[in-house]
Amino acid sequence: MKRSEINSLMLDAIDFLNENKFYLPKFAYWKIGDWKKKGEEVKEIIDCQLGWDISDFGKGIFHEFGLILFTIRNGDLKTLTKNYCEKVMIVDEGQTTPMHYHFKKQEDIINRAGGSLNVQVYNKTEDDQLADTPVSVVIDGIKKTVKAGGVICLSPGESIYLPSYIYHTFWAKKGTGKVLIGEVSSVNDDRFDNYFLKNVGRFAEIEEDEEPLYLLCSDYEKYLNI
Ligand SMILES: [Fe+2]
Repeated sequence: MKRSEINSLMLDAIDFLNENKFYLPKFAYWKIGDWKKKGEEVKEIIDCQLGWDISDFGKGIFHEFGLILFTIRNGDLKTLTKNYCEKVMIVDEGQTTPMHYHFKKQEDIINRAGGSLNVQVYNKTEDDQLADTPVSVVIDGIKKTVKAGGVICLSPGESIYLPSYIYHTFWAKKGTGKVLIGEVSSVNDDRFDNYFLKNVGRFAEIEEDEEPLYLLCSDYEKYLNI
């Protein structure tokens, strides 16, 4: 992805979050110059990969396969001082997150506002393919069984609980508008805890055609020396 595209997606995301009265912490708006004035006190942000995360999953077609995320809080798998994570995400109509499961993370995906959110689920086979068996899910505390590949449509306010090892993908339903998604989960570790059905990259490859507006969590190592 071009940095200019990421910068403009951040501005659109901020508008959408503000429209829905969802406000990000101050570090969301730190410029590189602000970061450079910080020291050890911000290590949790860096070590736990908090902050902006915009990905096309290495496919180069963000509007078909892409997601805007902001990790608000997260634990560190090494210290486990905090064993939970909260993210906010924005997904557009028909914009899909590649089918994946997590080895450890269990998560609640919540439709906080906007359009309708479609979530598709499968069990996995022993060789990590999609199983054809019915899938048990929990929608807002209520158990439900859906067929393999069943699509659960969540309206604003509704959520689904996804345990580890359940394949899932999601997108905003066509004709309903962008969705503001919340994610409440156990610790998130994007380096080792995602298994994608098809080989994709978790983070975008970035072509630096302009200065970053705000850093992505995957930029900290490159830009900061904390
Ligand atoms: Fe997931």
